[in-house]
Amino acid sequence: MTARIIDGKTLAVAVREEVAAGVAALVSAGAAVPELAVVLLGDDPASHVYVSNKVRQTEAAGMRSRRYLLDADTTERRLLELIEALNRDATVSGILVQFPLPPHIDTARVVTTIRPDKDVDGFNPLNVGRTAAGIEGALVPCTPLGVMRLIKSVHEDIAGLGALVVGASNVVGRPMARLLLQELCTVSIAHIRTTDLERRCSEADILVVATGVPGLIRGHFIRPGATVIDVGITRITSGSGAEKLVGDVAFDEAVKVAGAITPVPGGVGPMTIACLLANTLSAARMKAARSKAPDADPATAA
Ligand code: GUN
Repeated sequence: MTARIIDGKTLAVAVREEVAAGVAALVSAGAAVPELAVVLLGDDPASHVYVSNKVRQTEAAGMRSRRYLLDADTTERRLLELIEALNRDATVSGILVQFPLPPHIDTARVVTTIRPDKDVDGFNPLNVGRTAAGIEGALVPCTPLGVMRLIKSVHEDIAGLGALVVGASNVVGRPMARLLLQELCTVSIAHIRTTDLERRCSEADILVVATGVPGLIRGHFIRPGATVIDVGITRITSGSGAEKLVGDVAFDEAVKVAGAITPVPGGVGPMTIACLLANTLSAARMKAARSKAPDADPATAA
């Protein structure tokens, strides 16, 4: 068997087009143009590339963006003051602080300070709790949201399927498991300390891997016909000195066993930014709805 390749680039184009159409409809209904504020501390080259892509794609979808590039030694107080100013700024629909943050900054304090209704990363505890409880209107982290779209491009209905998420981060693994449970999958979470990873993988109809360990999941771990989503992306240098990006799944082995699989690159990556745009539009739509019915959602009111 050779797996179907799930084309994240093409699906991301469709999501971006949906967002652009949604933005045009919102603005023509009289709402302000949605605006995303992106904050980046330090000079990590990969983070700068991500932020530039986020800004460029936001503007290509008809939205506005602002970029705050701060020194790596910016104090936590200064960062929190900036976030509070953006929270109060009525022209800003969404706020994203790029991770990883320098070690002197408390990440939990940062995500808790971002207003839940502008939290386009879905990391604020109110959004985390709402997603966990299956409450409508939560902003959901972008990568898991993109992964759900990729899975649904293969499966019409995933209720009852066994899903294993390998990786338990707050950015991907944990929210991913909550979304799969919401769709009535039978969900397990594993991680790099799981002792019987191979057996657990072999039982999964849907396998989502997000560990950052290149090639962790070998072909013989995978249940024949399973859907495999590889969130990992690591730059490695091969023996000849050439650089390449690899995932957490040994692709050449897995493609012979799986029913469908995402490539790296070109699978999950393009969907993450497309879903950030979708979240920015969602935040702007909720803001427009609140301005029509100001008392509708006291939980997210500032
Ligand atoms: N760094 C890597 N992934 C992410 C993400 O999804 N959001 C933010 N804010 N930073 C990241």
